[in-house]
Amino acid sequence: MVVSVTQHGDIAVVTICNPPVNATSQAVRQGLAEALDATERDPEVKAVVLACAGRTFIAGADITEFGKPAVAPNLPDLLTRIEAASKPWVAALHGTVLGGGLETALVCSHRIAAAATRLGLPEVTLGLIPGAGGTVRLPRLIPPERALEMIGTGKPVSAFEAKKIGLIDAIAEADVLEAALDLARHAAGVTKPDPLIKRAPQTSENEYEFDRVAAKIVARARGQIAPHQAVQSVRLALSIPADQALAAERAAFVTLQSDPQSRALRYLFFAERAATKNARTKGIATRGITHVAVIGGGTMGAGIAASCLLAGYGVTMIERDHLAAKSGAARVVNILKGSLSRSVISPERYDQLQDLFAVATSYADLAAADLVIEAVYEDLAVKLDVLRRLETHARPDAILASNTSYLDVNQIARAIDGSDRVIGLHFFAPAHIMKLLEIVVPDAVSDEALATGVQFARSLGKIPVLAGVCDGFIANRMMSAYRREADHMLEDGALPWEIDKAMVGFGLPVGVFQMQDLAGLDISWSMRKRLAATRDPAQRYVAIGDMLCEQGRFGRKTGRGYYLYDDQGEAQPDPEVEAMILAESRRKGIRRRAFAADAIMARIIGAMQSEGAAILSEGVAASPQDIDVVMANAFGFPRWRGGPMYMAVASE
Ligand code: 3HC
Repeated sequence: MVVSVTQHGDIAVVTICNPPVNATSQAVRQGLAEALDATERDPEVKAVVLACAGRTFIAGADITEFGKPAVAPNLPDLLTRIEAASKPWVAALHGTVLGGGLETALVCSHRIAAAATRLGLPEVTLGLIPGAGGTVRLPRLIPPERALEMIGTGKPVSAFEAKKIGLIDAIAEADVLEAALDLARHAAGVTKPDPLIKRAPQTSENEYEFDRVAAKIVARARGQIAPHQAVQSVRLALSIPADQALAAERAAFVTLQSDPQSRALRYLFFAERAATKNARTKGIATRGITHVAVIGGGTMGAGIAASCLLAGYGVTMIERDHLAAKSGAARVVNILKGSLSRSVISPERYDQLQDLFAVATSYADLAAADLVIEAVYEDLAVKLDVLRRLETHARPDAILASNTSYLDVNQIARAIDGSDRVIGLHFFAPAHIMKLLEIVVPDAVSDEALATGVQFARSLGKIPVLAGVCDGFIANRMMSAYRREADHMLEDGALPWEIDKAMVGFGLPVGVFQMQDLAGLDISWSMRKRLAATRDPAQRYVAIGDMLCEQGRFGRKTGRGYYLYDDQGEAQPDPEVEAMILAESRRKGIRRRAFAADAIMARIIGAMQSEGAAILSEGVAASPQDIDVVMANAFGFPRWRGGPMYMAVASE
């Protein structure tokens, strides 16, 4: 039974059981409608508790039903009926109360949550707005600007925050169902509060706050339409009668559902989940990991260590001497302090995490580690040396991972006997924040080591994408391809600031030249010098980056690179760079032509798509979806466009 009703004295408990996340699929809606009828009919029932079996309360409408013909009962109508019930309904919340789940809780007369519950309206992340009354009821329960923040950003709030803003009535001290039953018994004896739909909107905390939140949401939307609609719908819900606002919200929801942006975002939602379930590791038993050792306490090593700590692992960080160990430890503690100040962790948790963390200068301290991640300098000889030392000091069954972004992980694995336990774990900086983790698959790796790597990534809250061994794996290989194309366009007629503007206008967070200026041009220059002898002379080579470095223009850190940086650090187009580019085109006999933003992006996306096709044909990525997941999560490719591989199909 998807929805069942059980009697507890004069309280009926309506329980939804629709794994994995109790989404309000048609069967759930039907079951709830029948449960409502039954409890309304039954004179013995004085109040109702609505609860969910399994890991969570309703986590939203069933996304798999979107884009298909609607089957009655629809959620908004059902919720209107529950809200009008003659008996009080108490929502017993746990897990992730999201989207249609929170909208269901809003039509109940009381809400009580387990302490670890998270509540939110994440529809905007799917290119939607709430479609079952969220924009209308939420600002009638909590201050409108807080409602707008939740709806416009899609970010969930903790139970603690929910209680503070009035979204829930109480946090259960122990079992949430028992606490909900108590609340229901109490509610049965008093007058049912007015449903939200009958109430006036809440008043704002201050008169400017709503506009400030709205402006922030609009500024961050960057091409995505749903956040704009969210602002518009909440504004409307504050100014017109609730029943009209409900109808307007539904109309906007239906329009957005068939918009290409929502289709792309839904595609990415499922692509990210599919990435974690690759065929190679499916059904393979994983090794238990409780203790992780991280070699190297630089920015990357510290980020990885913090990420592991925040996921509850014991962590030992190894550095070469006491001074380096001290700085590495300070970096980790700084990250944890940041998490504390952003309320990601409580003060008690912060103290516990300190106890889980140790630094050492001897490889002998690795003995307890189930997994060792080396995050030392990106140099093959250095990494090979570390691997050999790990072979001596780490447990013989410990999984050994190399955090490299370009190097040959096969070669690294071959440094030791028993290379079946060596994997690549390519983290992205900052490692404690970035969601993507490329799991690089060396030829000799065992299925067990690989499956454990995937499981480990998931436990860190990351999206693991398997990548074959090649120069740059999926992410950096894609980036090299579009950077190369941008270089070609410099010679063909576009200027750095024109290309960057087109990229930002497209929705990318930063243009390719500003990004290089930020990273520093000297690092890639020395790499190019190293590779110069082996470069294919037939390959088109753009020397503009080298010429900038020859003039000491290493990017932002030297105040000059592709751009000139003013006193405020703002990037300004530089006539000298323009003259250099024009001269280079002339020297090569290239007739420059103007590029409109569309033409620039067509070439950049085209380069991504052809590199993606090569990556697929070589088996470096398992699917086009994996490439799109990498692009969205490594480089901020605008999620609402799906990804370059998706765009190729969507435009057919
Ligand atoms: N509909 C259908 N399937 C869903 C779903 C949903 N709303 N939410 C999750 N699932 C599925 C996933 O696809 C996955 O399926 P799979 O095992 O076959 O791959 C499974 O449930 C488990 O999901 P996760 O792997 O993501 O599990 P996590 O534990 O990591 O995360 C979660 C759980 C936080 C609930 C996360 O799945 C999530 O954020 N879900 C989406 C929530 C959401 O966006 N809700 C709003 C929907 S739109 C809406 O409600 C419209 C309304 O206003 C009318």
